Order: sequence, then C-alpha cells, then structure tokens
Amino acid sequence: MSAPLVIRSTSEILWPSMVPPWPRALYCSGMSPTVWSYPTRILFGAGSASLTGKEAKSLIPDRVLLVTDAGVIRAGLTSKIEASLAAEGIQARIFSNLSSNPTEAEVEAGAQAYRSMAAQGVVAVGGGAAMDVAKLIVVRSRVDRSFEELDDAKGGDRFIPRELPPVIAIPTTAGTGSEVGRAAVLTVASTGSKTVIFAPSMLPRVAILDPELTVSLPASATAATGFDALTHCLEAYLAKGDHPMADGIALAGLELIARHLPRVLRDGADLKARGAMLKAGMMGAAAFQKGLGACHSLSHPLSAELGLHHGLANALCLPAVVDFNEAVVPDRVQRVATIFGAPPTPGSCGEVLRALRRSVGIAGGLAAAGITREQLPRLAALALGDACHQGNPRTCSESDFQALYAASL
Ligand SMILES: [Fe+2]
Repeated sequence: MSAPLVIRSTSEILWPSMVPPWPRALYCSGMSPTVWSYPTRILFGAGSASLTGKEAKSLIPDRVLLVTDAGVIRAGLTSKIEASLAAEGIQARIFSNLSSNPTEAEVEAGAQAYRSMAAQGVVAVGGGAAMDVAKLIVVRSRVDRSFEELDDAKGGDRFIPRELPPVIAIPTTAGTGSEVGRAAVLTVASTGSKTVIFAPSMLPRVAILDPELTVSLPASATAATGFDALTHCLEAYLAKGDHPMADGIALAGLELIARHLPRVLRDGADLKARGAMLKAGMMGAAAFQKGLGACHSLSHPLSAELGLHHGLANALCLPAVVDFNEAVVPDRVQRVATIFGAPPTPGSCGEVLRALRRSVGIAGGLAAAGITREQLPRLAALALGDACHQGNPRTCSESDFQALYAASL
C-alpha cells in the first residue's frame, strides 16, 4: 500500500454556533462575518483502513466500540479494521444492531454497549446510518436528556457539550458524506418523526476514505448514492449565500462525478473511480454547509413516508429542480451543464442529468418508483415543511412543490 494522502484543512476550528475569535466590536457594528470551516482530518487511499489503529491510538487508547451493520460485516469489511486496532493494543467490541433508518431504541442499545465496556470512543464503519448512530452514541455518553429535547429544530444543540468522545468515521458508500458532517438523524420514539441532532462536537475527528471498502457496493446502490453526492454538490453550488470555498469544492466534486460515476458503473472494481466517488461524496457534504435546496425537500418526504432510497429520490427529482432554478441562476446552472458535457444553453443541464440518470440504470421517474398523482398534494405539504429549501435560490411555494413532483413523475 502506498502512503495515504492526508488532507488537512484549517487548523483553526471555527464552529458556526460558537462565538468566533474576532473582535466583539465587529458584531456590535452589525458586520457579522460569514464563517467558513473545514476542520476534518481526512486520510485517503486504497488500503488506508488498515491505518485505523494507528490513527485511533492517540484518541482512543484502550477500548473502542466499533459501530457497523450486518451487511458490512457479511462483506468482510471490518476484519482489516479490527486487526489494525488489535495491533495497537486497542480492545474493540462490535455493535451492529442497526437499520438503514436508525431508531432511538437502536441508539440506546449502542449507548448501553458503549457504557458496558467503558469505551473511550467509537469507530464507525458503514454508510450514513452507522456514522449517525456512532455520533449519537457519543452524545448519549455525555447527555442524559431525551433525543426529543436535543432536536436541533428546538435549539437542542445548547444541551450538547463542546467536547465529546472521539468518532473515527470510515464510509463504505460514496454519497452521504456524513464522515465530514456534524449532524445525525434518528427516528424519535415519542414522536415517530425523523429528528436531526446537530452539534459541532459531533464532527468525526478523523475520516478514513478507503476505496477498497466500496468495491463490493452493488450497482443500484452505487448509482443512488452517487446521485446523492451529485445532488449535494449541485444544490450547494446553486444555494443562496456567499461561500466561495463551498462553491469551489462543489464544482470540483461535480467534475469528479461527471468523469467517474459512469466509469464506476461500468467496472465496480475500478479503484481509481471508486476513490474519486468517495472524494466527491465527502466534498458534497463539505460544500453543503453553504446550504442545500428544493431537491432535498422533495426527497425527504419520499423517503420518510414512502420508503424511497434517499439517493434515488434525489436522482428522480433533481432535473426538474434544476429546470425550475435555471430561471434565477442561469449562469450557474449552465456552468454545471458544461461539466457534464452539455452546451451552456437553456434546459441543457436538466436534460444531461436525465441522460446521466438513464445511463447509470435509473430508468423512468417517480411513477416508475410507485408514486401516484394522488399522493402529490400531501407530499408537497410535507416538502414545504422541510427546512432544506430555505437555501434554494428560488423561493418555493406548496404549489411549486406539487408542480416539481408532477414534473418528476
Ligand atoms: Fe442527501
């Protein structure tokens, strides 16, 4: 194995919810500065998962809970990681009793496993669910309040301490980017609702991107998670707000996806393409601290209410959203079109995304996924209640959402 590439961003950690270290007078004058923050240490490279133990040693010296799921264990993806932890004298216990949409009961069971071994931190190996549960377990290790009280929409982040035990995140899919994110989602038992828990201290200390861990991902999951990464980059680039770093990362992520998503679908064992998609997934999540958009508001009810895969739901709604947004940000939309090989002309971006979708095996639209016209009014009401469209460059009404769903059928 060649030495992994270690990507370091700013050494100064600026967290949006903290008072930044510049003069108070700046605030008092009404000049609130924008905060740009990319603090995660990231190891990238084929075989880099075997360095987990070395990375963990200074953070989690003796006992670690390894959070993963049954599919990841069956695919044999944890063995190299367990061996590297053992080589450093770190005792690891596996917790894998979690589903693709984590519940409060699963998190509490994980927290119990964490307490019972007196763990000092968590290594998460898997997709977004494993990484989210890992973050929530370390929250629970320091906070007794109910997850309903910790709901970010209710200001629950004020109850979460600025220091939490460390999480090391090792993704086995290329899409969510949760390894560089500060949020986690779980279904809370008392409300039955998906609830976002957010705190800067939930950010993993280290992310390890090893393309060897994604080669066994089936084609359908590769396409859907790849479209999730694409949607993160595209929505971040179009989102309202001034964030040149996020814009640059989003454009670079889109270039990686345009070149490598079709390639990885042709040959799932292509490590270079798998690596490029892992980078793009991570970059999409780094970029969307700028904001997301209407596509995620459309896709969330499709997943929460009707069980559609999140990335697939994004893939099915994204072209219509791009067409809708082109009226207000034509230059940005047409710049994205050129990245995917289309001319910078009206409507070309939506069309090239539809063609890409077909080429990676996602045929048809929402109707082919079982969504009916009768379901659209309720879905549109839920989409309006979702927070993501606050970042969309064009304001969306409930009837806009209904039209966007209809255009995606
Ligand atoms: Fe997403």
